[in-house]
Amino acid sequence: MKELIKDLQKQALSFKIDSREDLEAFRMKFLVKKGMLNDLFSKFRELDGQAKKEFGGPLNDLKQKVQSIYDDKSAELLSNEAAAGPVYDDSLPGLPLDAGSRHPISIVLNQMIDVFMKMGFSISEGPEVEDDWHNFTALNFPENHPARDMQDTFFIDEDFSLRTHTSSVQVRVMESEDPPIRTISPGRVYRNEAISARSNSFFHQIEGLYIDKGVSFADLKQTLYLFVQEFFGEGTKVRFRPSYFPFTEPSAEMDIYLGVTTEEDRRLTKGSGWLEILGCGMVDENVLRNNDIDPETYSGFAFGMGVERITLFKYGVKDLRIFFENDIRFLRQFQGEE
Ligand code: DAH
Repeated sequence: MKELIKDLQKQALSFKIDSREDLEAFRMKFLVKKGMLNDLFSKFRELDGQAKKEFGGPLNDLKQKVQSIYDDKSAELLSNEAAAGPVYDDSLPGLPLDAGSRHPISIVLNQMIDVFMKMGFSISEGPEVEDDWHNFTALNFPENHPARDMQDTFFIDEDFSLRTHTSSVQVRVMESEDPPIRTISPGRVYRNEAISARSNSFFHQIEGLYIDKGVSFADLKQTLYLFVQEFFGEGTKVRFRPSYFPFTEPSAEMDIYLGVTTEEDRRLTKGSGWLEILGCGMVDENVLRNNDIDPETYSGFAFGMGVERITLFKYGVKDLRIFFENDIRFLRQFQGEE
């Protein structure tokens, strides 16, 4: 028995363990139920009382030794692995990554921008916090004139407010560029309005401005007509209705004809078949003068359209509040659209 114990100890001590596989081989050889240690214990059980007394202690010592070789090596391997950094198996399939998607407002905004870019318009931007001059005064809103109430304003202090329309960017462009000017200004605007299915306290607009020698109302009509044919499809009917804006003279609003065949069309157009999509007009001479552009030499047109309304129409969405709730179930439906 003594020899057997000695021999097993020698084998265990000289066993080379350099890897997890070696460690497992060690365990299989010595520690499992049918391993060498248990074999030795079986033999031990067959000994007589005297021999049992003699070898019980050394055998238990051996068992502990073998177990601690295993434990120490196991800990050593583990710490070596941790030091070497994580183990990558690049043959494993990757974890599924949830791809994001564009917001429907962005999708429609980009499509609208594309059409105007094709017509040669550039893109310009301005700040969302705007001063009175750019949002109102330069655009020919007289001081204390009720026209300012057309747009319920969020004031920040006496001098600044959140812009109520992207027409403010017109002024910034005229300040910094000389005609000819042909630009669109997409962006977010803010109004202190009750939130409902049809209006929100912030929304998006695209402003357009074209100034050159000899620009006429016919150019305005042609540009918007082309936009509608490109964006809503060949043959879409439009109509212009006279309107009022302080910064244009004459001013108009433009409707597109959706018809009254579907429930959806009737709802959106309040039964008339016509959907108003923008305001427009010839840039008022006062606005040109406010921006140091000579109205004797130059004329121009401007237009401003709401992006939400067009998006509602395009996707048959009934309540625009859903655009701003960030509900992933809604947003996922636009996956893959640009
Ligand atoms: N700024 C107007 C609004 O927010 C829209 C608009 C109307 C813009 C006529 C224009 C324009 O440039 O000529 O309701």
